[in-house]
Amino acid sequence: MATIAPQEQDFTALPEMPADVFTAPLKKPAHVGDDWLEPKQTDYTAEDDAIWNDLFARQMGVLPGRAASAFMEGLEKLDLGQGGVPEFGRLSEDLGKLTGWSVVPVPMLIPDHVFFWHLANRRFPAGNFIRTRETFDYIQEPDVFHDVFGHVPMLTDPVYADYMQEYGKAGWKAMRYNRLKALGALYWYTVEFGLMLERGEVRAYGAGILSGPTEAVFAVEGKSPNRIMLNVDRVMRTDYVISDLQPTYFVIESFEDLYRQTVERDFDRLYRSLPPAFTYANSAVIDVDNVIHRGTQEYLLRGGRGSGAAPV
Ligand SMILES: [Fe+2]
Repeated sequence: MATIAPQEQDFTALPEMPADVFTAPLKKPAHVGDDWLEPKQTDYTAEDDAIWNDLFARQMGVLPGRAASAFMEGLEKLDLGQGGVPEFGRLSEDLGKLTGWSVVPVPMLIPDHVFFWHLANRRFPAGNFIRTRETFDYIQEPDVFHDVFGHVPMLTDPVYADYMQEYGKAGWKAMRYNRLKALGALYWYTVEFGLMLERGEVRAYGAGILSGPTEAVFAVEGKSPNRIMLNVDRVMRTDYVISDLQPTYFVIESFEDLYRQTVERDFDRLYRSLPPAFTYANSAVIDVDNVIHRGTQEYLLRGGRGSGAAPV
């Protein structure tokens, strides 16, 4: 068996990308440097700011009672509802005082190793562009509303902030084992679509849930999706869907629990035993699962997005 060099401890420099690491080939736009950072945040129009305000107001009608309290508190701490797209400089200053993170503008997609590098240095890469009225209800690409409204408030929580940094560091190892898909599934089912328990009730902390009105209700209250307690081995073997509501959500007890389950475990052993493809379908319930709610999968079975099926 090939040996994998011990993980280097210097995360300040961009990691080398050996030729035998499989990642999506992305062409770097000419105007960005090796760090893939945009020279500055976009100058938003009055219409862009109005779109932000309308998206913000819509989510505030849905999230109380469904979003994790850490998220709602983060919104307040960062004063994200002061009108218009937030200025990243102001946001970074406030966030820096709380947990040492900053928000940096990037093009729509950046390579995995650059993304990991920014996270490992407590920089959150956020898309510059904002959706239009035509794509107000749904866009697949993460825009500034998804990135800043959905992700950044969570970075005010000290334990969650540490988890995100450790996730970035973990990317190095996953690259060397060619297991980025498995690590991507962990990100998907926690950072993007994670649920947690608060006083026995399910609440959302994942940005993909928090930045959309339909999924916020579906994930927390819908009868279709499974809600299963998070087990890292299981999640990293589970397929995920990027173009529709999730058939399964994974639930953590707390951010401390998430941190323990991930940071304090031996990923070398896990990566050696993981097959290159996912083992479990995204709607599967397996016998070792600790199930909170076994979904009917009615939405999926009626055809999901595009079929006209109600997200129940
Ligand atoms: Fe996201």
